Amino acid sequence: MNETAAPPVEALDLNLEEFTGKHPICVRGLKTSFGEQIVHEGLDLDVRKGEILGVVGGSGTGKSVLMRAIIGLQTPDEGEIEVLGRSITGAQDDDDIDIRSRWGVLFQGGALFSTLTVAENVEVPLKEFYPEISPALMDEIARYKVVLSGLPEETTSKYPAELSGGMKKRAGLARALALDPELLFLDEPTAGLDPIGAAAFDNLIVELKQALDLTVFLITHDLDTLYEICDRVAVIADQKVIAVGTISELLATDHEWIQEYFNGPRGRAAKTTKDRLDAKDRPGERQAKPVDTPAKAGA
Ligand SMILES: Nc1ncnc2c1ncn2[C@@H]1O[C@H](COP(=O)(O)OP(=O)(O)OP(=O)(O)O)[C@@H](O)[C@H]1O
Ligand SMILES: [Mg+2]
Repeated sequence: MNETAAPPVEALDLNLEEFTGKHPICVRGLKTSFGEQIVHEGLDLDVRKGEILGVVGGSGTGKSVLMRAIIGLQTPDEGEIEVLGRSITGAQDDDDIDIRSRWGVLFQGGALFSTLTVAENVEVPLKEFYPEISPALMDEIARYKVVLSGLPEETTSKYPAELSGGMKKRAGLARALALDPELLFLDEPTAGLDPIGAAAFDNLIVELKQALDLTVFLITHDLDTLYEICDRVAVIADQKVIAVGTISELLATDHEWIQEYFNGPRGRAAKTTKDRLDAKDRPGERQAKPVDTPAKAGA
């Protein structure tokens, strides 16, 4: 073991500041564009503290760009974005650096560094924000986050190419959790996973949210995920958030895309599965549902 006396991981709270307001993410009048192409215009969104907010919309409607704008990677043309009470749109690099340490991001596609092991990937944000942490403690934290994300401890020494798709997602999640974030951004976390793997990942998100008191911004096309774990869902269309609410509230609107999405064959199948499990009062057994539900088959 390590000869240096490192403090126990559970005693190490990397982020001492905590947001106590109601909306850790507030977006007002957002406009983003690429050249002539306007992606968002007049987009407003509030994310409530402690919720899992699902973000849906057709492909190319700007879900990932919205997430990038919120975390300061995409400079908006217009609008205001506040995260954890701080202005992202008004922040200088040096000012917002401490906010960046208070969120974790799982990008669409994972974005692990292929030349680094899983542990080294998890250590990237630690080294950036806490270079003073000893290598031994760094290693300890990385192993803890890997296990927390549901991977066997020996995964820490593997390279991304040696992992399955589901394992890569979990490794990406471990990296997103490296800094004990208050906010977790997940872009299509279950895309490409088999239904059992997707359900297990959903369960993990809920468990982590409860255990770590997270607010989760979750972009997904996965209807099962929306029904199972999201407190509310925001729908992006026509360059805006056209509606946000529970799925029942969304269904009460008469927007064509919303009706088609949730009342189409896949939406109905996801709802039927959820109703069936709820009726049996076995929410924890979602993993046991048939693997060929229409909501997932061919997804
Ligand atoms: N770096 C970029 N340069 C130019 N255009 C971009 C860039 N990033 C995104 N876009 C464009 O912005 C639009 C929104 O892209 P975005 O990736 O946010 O879509 P999305 O809703 O996440 O789609 P998907 O569900 O397929 O992931 C698309 O038309 C895309 O081509
Ligand atoms: Mg996307």
